[in-house]
This record gives sequence, C-alpha cells and structure tokens, in this order.
Amino acid sequence: MTEIAARAVGVDIGGTGIKAGVVDVTTGTLISTRAKVATPEGAKPRDVLAAVEQVLDLLDVAEDKIPLGVAFPAIIKSGRTMSAANVSDEWIGFEAEKFFEDGLGRDIHFANDADVAGIAEVRFGAAKDQAGLTILTTLGTGIGSAMIYNGVLVPNSELGHVQRAKHGKDAEAYAANSVMERLGLSWAQWAKRLQWYYSHLEFLFSPDLFVVGGGVSKSSDKFLPLLDLKTPIVPAVHRNNAGIIGAAALAAD
Ligand code: BGC
Repeated sequence: MTEIAARAVGVDIGGTGIKAGVVDVTTGTLISTRAKVATPEGAKPRDVLAAVEQVLDLLDVAEDKIPLGVAFPAIIKSGRTMSAANVSDEWIGFEAEKFFEDGLGRDIHFANDADVAGIAEVRFGAAKDQAGLTILTTLGTGIGSAMIYNGVLVPNSELGHVQRAKHGKDAEAYAANSVMERLGLSWAQWAKRLQWYYSHLEFLFSPDLFVVGGGVSKSSDKFLPLLDLKTPIVPAVHRNNAGIIGAAALAAD
C-alpha cells in the first residue's frame, strides 16, 4: 500500500520570488509561516539552488526529512526543465530534479508551478469535484496553466504561450500581471487584455471552469467582474499559496 505523509514542504519557485511553507496535506492547509526570498537576478541554477536552501533555512526545515515538493516555472519532463521563459536559458534541457536532489541532499518531487497550483485547487479548492475540463491560469510574472479533466491533470499545457496573432506576441507578453504593472495599466485596461485571452482559451478548449490564481487573484473582484465569458471564472481558493500547497501534496503522495 502507498503511504501518504500527513505533512510536507512545498517550495514554489517563481520568476520574481521563491516561497515555501509546511503543509498539512490531508486538509491542504499551510501550517507554518510562509517564507519568501527574491528570485536571484538572472535565475541561474546555482543561484536558484542557494535561494531554495535559504528559504528552507528560514522555514527551519532544512534538516527535516519530511517530503519536499518543488514547483518550477518551466516545462518539466522526466525531471528535466525543457523551457525557460522567465529564468536563465541554462535551464533548457537541464537535469533540474537531480540537481536539486544532489544540492539539497534529499529526494524531492519536481513539477511545473501552474500544474501544482491546479492540483491544489482540484484537491482542496475551487475545482474540487468539478466535472469536465478545468483550466487554471496563474497570472504573475508570466502566465501559467493547468488543464484538469475530470480530476486528472494533463501536464505541461503552457497556455501562457498561445500566440496573439495581432501583435505577434504570446499571451503572457500581452496579458500577464507583470505587463499590467510594467505599463501601469488600469484594471479596466488590463481586463480588456484578459478578455481577449480567456475568450481565446474558451474558443479553443470549451472548458467547464476557469480558475484564476497568482498573487493578483487576491484582487479578483477588481477584474473578474469586468470579463464577459460563457464559462464560469472564479479565483483560486488558495490564491498565491496554491503552488506551495500543490507541490507539497504531490510530494506526499
Ligand atoms: C512558463 C510556465 C510557467 C508560467 C508561470 C511561463 O512563462 O513557461 O512553465 O508555468 O510561466 O510561472
């Protein structure tokens, strides 16, 4: 029989910050403070590893051998990172899981950041018991996505990189939350960009539910009501902690 641990640590590596917490994986709740360090400039493997060590020290779990899940903003195949949208190109084709395991001296479970956020929302949040297709998107430095069909994750969907033909840019370069911040867009101006994005996803996939995660989901009342979609669209219950919770939950399986 497979044993499921009751506690696990989740680390969520993002383009801007690296966050970690201890999670009760039976309930999907954070049972520690949330530790956070900035993602090092350039996000090269060695520097990111040092930052992960630092965040585990802050949590005081560096020596604790409970399961550890690490979420990363790239396509991940058999423990290798296969893309690098907001991190150093050194990650492309890099044996990242092994690199972290060797560096931290322990086993880890390694997965895409948006995929683990999707797992958190399916198990413990906004997409619990949702039938059909749920698409979770994280609006942050980039746009991440998790596609979940009847509770089963289809990994590495990368819907932040669908192309916007009109501008020859991908969706995240047009509609990520970092773009709103960089250009100083109002909620209404940003919502117009999100309208294009979610309408396009709706046309491509006919989902049953959209879940919106990422730090900005705490202000979802400012932009979700401005969207006009056929598909219900709701904020992630675990907001910006979904990555930590999902990474920990997968590690504990
Ligand atoms: C990456 C994804 C990631 C997303 C959110 C994108 O740029 O390609 O893998 O999930 O950012 O961090």
